[in-house]
Amino acid sequence: MIADILLTHFNQVFCPNDPGHPLFGQDMKDAQILEDGYIAVKNGLILAVGTGEPDASLIGEETIVRSYEGKIATPGIIDCHTHLVYGGSREHEFAKKLAGVSYLDILAQGGGILSTVKATREASFDNLYQKSKRLLDYMLLHGVTTVEAKSGYGLNWETEKRQLDVVSALNKDHPIDLVSTFMAAHAIPEEYKGKSQAYLDLIVEEMLPAVKEDNLAEFCDIFCEKNVFTAEESRYLLSKAKEMGFKLRIHADEIASIGGVDVAAELGATSAEHLMMATDQGIAKMSEAKVIGNLLPATTFSLMEDTYAPARKMIEKGMAITLSTDSNPGSCPTANMQFAMQLGCFMMGLTPVEVLNAATINAAYSVNRQESIGSFTIGKEADIAIFDAPNIDYPFYFFATNLIHQVYKKGNLMVDRGRIV
Ligand code: NIG
Ligand code: FE
Repeated sequence: MIADILLTHFNQVFCPNDPGHPLFGQDMKDAQILEDGYIAVKNGLILAVGTGEPDASLIGEETIVRSYEGKIATPGIIDCHTHLVYGGSREHEFAKKLAGVSYLDILAQGGGILSTVKATREASFDNLYQKSKRLLDYMLLHGVTTVEAKSGYGLNWETEKRQLDVVSALNKDHPIDLVSTFMAAHAIPEEYKGKSQAYLDLIVEEMLPAVKEDNLAEFCDIFCEKNVFTAEESRYLLSKAKEMGFKLRIHADEIASIGGVDVAAELGATSAEHLMMATDQGIAKMSEAKVIGNLLPATTFSLMEDTYAPARKMIEKGMAITLSTDSNPGSCPTANMQFAMQLGCFMMGLTPVEVLNAATINAAYSVNRQESIGSFTIGKEADIAIFDAPNIDYPFYFFATNLIHQVYKKGNLMVDRGRIV
C-alpha cells in the first residue's frame, strides 16, 4: 500500500511492545529499537515501520518523503496525570516553601489547593480556556500528544463543570487529545469544613450523575491523603463511581501512606498515582491486582523532598509503571514531560527504555487509549515525537533542554523546530 508520508533514516525508532496489556515488571526492559528506521503513515495511521530503505511498494507519486539522519523517533509522549485547568497561580507561596513550610501546612492555612479553588471559581470559561491552551501548547512543544486532565479546583458543581467543559472544548480545538478525569474530591471545600461525608454525598448524589449524563469524564479520582480524604472515604466515593460506570484512579501514598493503595487494589482501579510513600505490602497488592503505578517525580522534586517513589522495587515486584508531570499550580508547576522523564532516570534509577515504555505504551493503557496510541503498531494513530538526538539515551543524558525537533499528531506535522505550525 502507498504511504501518504514516509519518514526515513532515523538513527533509531523506539518501538514499544504492545502485548495486549500494560508492560509489567521485567517486560518494561524490552522494546524494539530500529536502527536506520522508517515510519510510513497513511490516513493519519501507522502503515509500516522498518529499517533501511523502505519497500518501493510504499512510495507513490504523491508520497511525501522526509529524511531524519541524526534524529530519533518515539511514539507521541502521553502525560497521564495533570491538573490542567485552573485559575491564577501560586508563586506567592514559593517564599514560604523555600522557608521550609510544608505543602500540607500551607494547605491547612487555607493556601495551597484552596487558594487555587478561589481563583478558579472567579475565573471565566474563557480565562480558563486560554490558560489551559497555553499549557497544552507548551506540552505539545515538548513532544506530548495526549494528556489526562483532572478537574478539582472548583469543588462546587458550577466550577467543576466549567473545568470539564474547558477540557471538552480543548479536546476538540487543540491538537493534543485529552482524557477527562472528574476529581471534585481533590480537597474539602471551606463551606464543608469538618463535613467531608456531606461533601462526598453531594458528589455522589448530584455531581457524578451529572458528569455521567453529559459524558464529561471517563475517570473518577480522589486525593486520599492525611488531612484530606481518608481511605474509608475514598473507598466510599470510588465504589459509587465504579457502580456508575466510571473507571478509577486514585492519588495515593503521596505524602503519607494511609491506605489509598488498598482501595485501588480492592476496587480494581486502573491506576494509583504518586506513590512516593508506597510500602512493600502496598507494592505487593498493586502488583497482584494489576493496578498501574503512576509516578510523578517532578512533584517530589518540586516539593523539595527526597522521597522519590520506589520505582525499581515496583518493577522488580512485577508492577507496570507510568510517569507523568502532575502539572498543577502548587505541587508541580511545570509542563515539561521530558524533565519528569529525566528525573525517572536521575532520581529513580530507571533506564531510558523503561522511561520511554512508561511514557508511551503503559501510559496509553493507563488512560484507556491502548487501542489507538502508545506504540507504532500498524493501524494505531501516527502520533510521533522526533528528538534532535542521535540515540534514545541522549534525551536523558542531555537533560533540561527541549530536544524536540518535530511532532506529528495523527500524521499531521504540528511542531517544527520549536514552533507550533
Ligand atoms: O497531585 N495531590 C493533590 N493534587 C495535586 C496538587 C494540587 C495543588 O497543589 O494544587 C498533586 O500533587
Ligand atoms: Fe495530582
